[in-house]
Amino acid sequence: MQVFEKVLVNGVSIPNRIVMPPMCMYISDNAGLANEFHFQHYGARAVGGVGLIIQEATGVNSNGRITNKDLGIYTQEQVAVLKNLVAYVKKLNPATKMMVQLGHAGRKVDVNSGSDIPDIVAPSPLKFNEKYASPREMTLEDINNVKRDFIQAAKNALEAGYDGIEIHAAHGYLLNQFLSGITNHRKDNYGGSSENRVRILKEILEGIREFFPKDKILGIRLSAVDYSDVEATLAETIETVKQIDSLIDMFHISSGALTPSAPVNYHLYQVDFARKIKQLTTKPIIAVGLITTLEEAEYVLQSGSSDFIALGRELLRNPNWVLLNDKNIENAPTYYKRSFK
Ligand SMILES: Cc1cc2nc3c(=O)[nH]c(=O)nc-3n(C[C@H](O)[C@H](O)[C@H](O)COP(=O)(O)O)c2cc1C
Repeated sequence: MQVFEKVLVNGVSIPNRIVMPPMCMYISDNAGLANEFHFQHYGARAVGGVGLIIQEATGVNSNGRITNKDLGIYTQEQVAVLKNLVAYVKKLNPATKMMVQLGHAGRKVDVNSGSDIPDIVAPSPLKFNEKYASPREMTLEDINNVKRDFIQAAKNALEAGYDGIEIHAAHGYLLNQFLSGITNHRKDNYGGSSENRVRILKEILEGIREFFPKDKILGIRLSAVDYSDVEATLAETIETVKQIDSLIDMFHISSGALTPSAPVNYHLYQVDFARKIKQLTTKPIIAVGLITTLEEAEYVLQSGSSDFIALGRELLRNPNWVLLNDKNIENAPTYYKRSFK
């Protein structure tokens, strides 16, 4: 079974191909601190044998949070608690690896949840829909500040001991807003041509590469398409991948949420996008999207569509998915091995 084969990505040994994708729990506080819930939530998936946990979208600054219950990674207090969280997860199952998704909401601050994020910014002053606020168009100074914050957040993630980071450039959040001509109408060096729209992301990645260790993972999550214009947005994503490939260790291929056009969720609904991106790069690919059974996961890997399988809602329902499906006792977390003897 390929699902339960371990794999080495840079210096990170991942015990199987099952990934917990980032899923915001909106259960922090205005200080953006991890709490008992997060220790239990991520700890349970480590005990359940998940190969790679990617922590939920975690704000690179207070303004970039989707709600004011998002986790943050921009204060020393936050980093200190996250350091304990990573250590806790690794203590529960030393084989499980843990990354953190670094995010900025841009125009998609959830104002309806009662969030009081004061300054909502985006590449262009276009609102997501009637329920969202009109963002302010970012100045060059804003762009430089966001770059600085992503780069500092990556440093903070290393300090906290994560095995890698995932830059959130999917689901219509800030970096996705820059990448697409649908949401980016800028006339300066950060809008217009594909090279210009990718510029902010590329500059962030280059800044991180200056200090990022070779034995950790620098990943990215992309929405391969937006459902308002599948053809045009897929072409944009292909261009993006070509431009950043040399800076990236792992691609996580999702779709949608740049505009309100939503996809139909059928089993494996995004796998074909993972497969398309896999043809453009030699870097490992995570496929995601209503993959729930062992048979589906194995099929996706064996068909060569991806190298990893993320199970989102399925792992919320069942943190023990790996333990239940992997009958090889040698692969179980250490203390279960002891108990089963
Ligand atoms: C509760 C919840 C929160 C989510 N939060 C995030 C997030 O923080 N970052 C992200 O990139 N995707 C997020 N997603 C999307 C998931 O990572 C995943 O791509 C999606 O649920 C599809 O996979 P699934 O069908 O296996 O659940 C979230 C999904 C759910 C259900």
